[in-house]
Amino acid sequence: MRKLELKINESLKSIKDYFDFLPKVKIGLILGSGLGEMADEIGDILSIPYEKIYGFLRPTVEGHKGNLVFGKLGNKSVCIMQGRFHYYEGNTIGDIVYPLFVMKRLGVSHLIITNAAGGINPSFKPGDLVIIEDYINFAMKNPSTNLRGIKPVIFKDTNWIESISRKFEDLKRGVYIFVTGPSYETPSEIKMFRKLGADMVGMSTVPEIITASSLGIRVLGFSCITNMAAGILEKPLSHQEVIEVSKMVKDKFKKLIKIAVMEA
Ligand code: HPA
Repeated sequence: MRKLELKINESLKSIKDYFDFLPKVKIGLILGSGLGEMADEIGDILSIPYEKIYGFLRPTVEGHKGNLVFGKLGNKSVCIMQGRFHYYEGNTIGDIVYPLFVMKRLGVSHLIITNAAGGINPSFKPGDLVIIEDYINFAMKNPSTNLRGIKPVIFKDTNWIESISRKFEDLKRGVYIFVTGPSYETPSEIKMFRKLGADMVGMSTVPEIITASSLGIRVLGFSCITNMAAGILEKPLSHQEVIEVSKMVKDKFKKLIKIAVMEA
């Protein structure tokens, strides 16, 4: 058996040992800065710390907890990664996407990912929520070591997007450009990204989209514009601003995620 499959079996065993059974899940949620408390909204809750799951890392960034939370949102069984892993924390891309292989085996068929992003499109403003219609993998990092064969990334799910847009007013759409971070961009880089066709910039999500798509999981990503990217406005960026705006739009964002779950 391949090394990866043995590792996934170990992870599943640790979850099964912790709960005394293996939960079945339809929808996976990977939530970015400030949204971890979405887990408080779900019923029939079961939670396991990442440190108890074989092969899982621990998050190090402020605003990120480290639990895998199972439960019900409406009538749908969900599993929330409360806290996520980033490349800029020093993790490998393979480590970041590893939980998706475990989710797939738990039955996940749909994945919803959220992130904080800097707005490049001048019509965006902090607090806007944007569906990721496409991405640019500017970090040039690909989780391919864990994947088999060369595949196109097909993730734009028009039906799912349209049914959410009908129920949620003022949902923007855009192209997300993935950078490694951890430093924010320079104004000149942002100018270049605009020319390349990016509407927002961030340091996550693309590895997970690539992996989910390759595993046959339907995937949808949402960005919360927490700040305008470098040089779009005069003022400098701060992680504090990112956290504050995330907090401000939290309720609106949670409503959007619930709609996305119900429409899945
Ligand atoms: N740049 C990169 N990542 C980000 C930003 C940004 O401006 N805001 C939130 N995440």
